[in-house]
Amino acid sequence: MVPAFLLLSTLPLALAAPAAESASAFAGSTLSAIYPPPSATVTTDELYFPDAEQVGYPGPTPTGAEAEAIATAPVAALNTNAYPLVAPQTPYSGTGTPFQVIRSWGNLGPWFSVDSGAFGLPTADPQIPSGCELEQVHLLHRHGARYPTSGSAPGSFAATVQEAASGSGFSATGPLEFLNTWTYKLGAEILTPEGRQQPFDLGVGFRVKYGSLLNEFTELPVFRTTSENRMVESAIHFAAGFFGVSDYQTSYHQEIIIENSGFNNTLAPWNACPNSNDAIAGDLGGYASGNWTQIYLNATTSRLQQYITGLNLTATDVYAMQELCAYETVALGYSQFCGLFTEEEWRGFDYSIDLSFWYGDGPGNPAAAAQGIGYVQELVARLTKTPLTTFDTSTNGTLDGNNITFPLSQPIYVDATHDTVIASIITALNFTTLAANGPLPIDRIPAYQTYHVHDIAPFTSNLVAQVVSCPASVSPTPEVGSATDSASYIRFILNDGVVPLTGISHCETPDSNGLCLLDNFIQGMQERIQEVDFVYDCYANYTPPALTADTIIDGRMIQ
Ligand SMILES: *[C@@H]1O[C@H](CO)[C@@H](O)[C@H](O)[C@H]1NC(C)=O
Ligand SMILES: *[C@@H]1O[C@H](CO)[C@@H](O)[C@H](O)[C@H]1NC(C)=O
Ligand SMILES: *[C@@H]1O[C@H](CO)[C@@H](O)[C@H](O)[C@H]1NC(C)=O
Ligand SMILES: *[C@@H]1O[C@H](CO)[C@@H](O)[C@H](O)[C@H]1NC(C)=O
Ligand SMILES: *[C@@H]1O[C@H](CO)[C@@H](O)[C@H](O)[C@H]1NC(C)=O
Ligand SMILES: *[C@@H]1O[C@H](CO)[C@@H](O)[C@H](O)[C@H]1NC(C)=O
Ligand SMILES: *[C@@H]1O[C@H](CO)[C@@H](O)[C@H](O)[C@H]1NC(C)=O
Repeated sequence: MVPAFLLLSTLPLALAAPAAESASAFAGSTLSAIYPPPSATVTTDELYFPDAEQVGYPGPTPTGAEAEAIATAPVAALNTNAYPLVAPQTPYSGTGTPFQVIRSWGNLGPWFSVDSGAFGLPTADPQIPSGCELEQVHLLHRHGARYPTSGSAPGSFAATVQEAASGSGFSATGPLEFLNTWTYKLGAEILTPEGRQQPFDLGVGFRVKYGSLLNEFTELPVFRTTSENRMVESAIHFAAGFFGVSDYQTSYHQEIIIENSGFNNTLAPWNACPNSNDAIAGDLGGYASGNWTQIYLNATTSRLQQYITGLNLTATDVYAMQELCAYETVALGYSQFCGLFTEEEWRGFDYSIDLSFWYGDGPGNPAAAAQGIGYVQELVARLTKTPLTTFDTSTNGTLDGNNITFPLSQPIYVDATHDTVIASIITALNFTTLAANGPLPIDRIPAYQTYHVHDIAPFTSNLVAQVVSCPASVSPTPEVGSATDSASYIRFILNDGVVPLTGISHCETPDSNGLCLLDNFIQGMQERIQEVDFVYDCYANYTPPALTADTIIDGRMIQ
């Protein structure tokens, strides 16, 4: 079936191939632009454009009080908007919630608010439970939308198209006709315009929800990121949203932790964990999604082949076309590749990413918990206000051993990281309800799946830990502990969905708001730190279980 959406797509007439429909010689070639255009004259003459201070007359500038919408509003503000992206549609027969293609791109789509029901707490929401008071918040967020990784499938597909176009030529018709004049307009690694907006918006949202905690600071906040360009840019855009573009540079300290081989970094831990990069544990995610791709795209490859001669498509090419839909949309606002695929094919794509993360960075990977445990050590240090003294994982002792670069008394912590790291950290945190129903099969989509990367690690995915104080008398959740006086609790909110903590020792008692007594959580995490054998999982020469017999569900090699 041709998706209805395709009927709307047309090529600009000037570019449309003549009747023969054969590809232009430039099809598949890579375009890039520099701004300002090198030929442009760039004037720096401040005489003509004095800045606001020089001009003066700013009008009245009184400030208002900090907001705390996470406690004061009756409901949480949710993120459901994809502006300015044009979200692709699949045919919709009219009952139930329409399938949303843009929410089936795993780690390659924008983040949207997740309903807590997706994680098993249908009545919970991100608002501070009534009667409780917000004490502290810890935010871990992913960078915004980016171009593809250097040398990855979308660029290879473009090279294949260009090779065919500039060689003996190809000819595409029907839904693939656009390929005759398609060019590759994506860069690599860095943020797209949408990718700048997402962390900016997250920063604005965080100020509105948690701004009141700024009143409690005694020094300027230290927020952390890693050294990659997109990571620094994301952190700065977050800060610009949070503090404002005129003020952010003087409002906080940005810590930039080196992300490169040879350096310890809890926000890019693979460099401190050799097994995560090599044949021991590094290939599992790719193998799992690779096997599934051969299955779910087998018929699709034949279907699309009908529309092209002179270029033999493989399942890998077709997979790259699905990735191009996501990447072009988040970079260029729209992609003609999106209309090529059905709902079932998008579900297959989404699942391929679930497999890649489950076996590559999540519950099924033997070095995943080890990679996330450094952040857990930092979290425990912050929650207990106790300096770290042993640096036996991916922590950097120079930075984390210093109370200026690793402060322990901030009401707000903000760390920027990568998708795979969020997956490893929630594995280290033992969020086992997300791994319920066991290992993911590599040959089919299981009926009851709880692990979805589109909920865990989309662009600008955000994990928030709220520390709240609840008096025993008005505790909304008397079942969570035996506290008789006011006590501190913690809970975790992943993309606005509250996560049950019942897989963590000492937090087993179910709580409808996802709360665990802070002391119990800390005890559980201290046990978890003991349980995760960093040296073995990251350095030992072991053979991980075969993918079809991988019973690992908490990211540790079974010894
Ligand atoms: C820790 O970070 C500091 C500051 O960037 C750097 O000089 C040092 O090499 C890092 N150490 C490790 C082991 O990564
Ligand atoms: C399928 O998985 C096996 C390991 O179980 C791996 O050797 C093989 O390369 C994978 N196939 C693909 C296409 O990724
Ligand atoms: C792909 O489809 C063909 C024809 O239906 C079939 O023979 C082949 O086994 C399939 N391959 C996979 C990996 O499913
Ligand atoms: C495509 O595959 C067919 C059948 O295997 C082969 O005859 C043809 O040469 C291939 N075409 C290209 C462009 O590789
Ligand atoms: C870096 O990590 C290694 C491996 O865990 C650890 O042995 C070392 O002490 C760390 N170095 C620093 C400076 O933190
Ligand atoms: C930070 O560490 C220095 C040196 O150990 C110590 O003198 C200072 O009191 C510490 N500051 C705080 C706020 O803990
Ligand atoms: C973490 O989860 C695993 C798997 O469910 C469990 O065996 C282990 O006891 C848990 N550890 C802690 C400290 O919660």
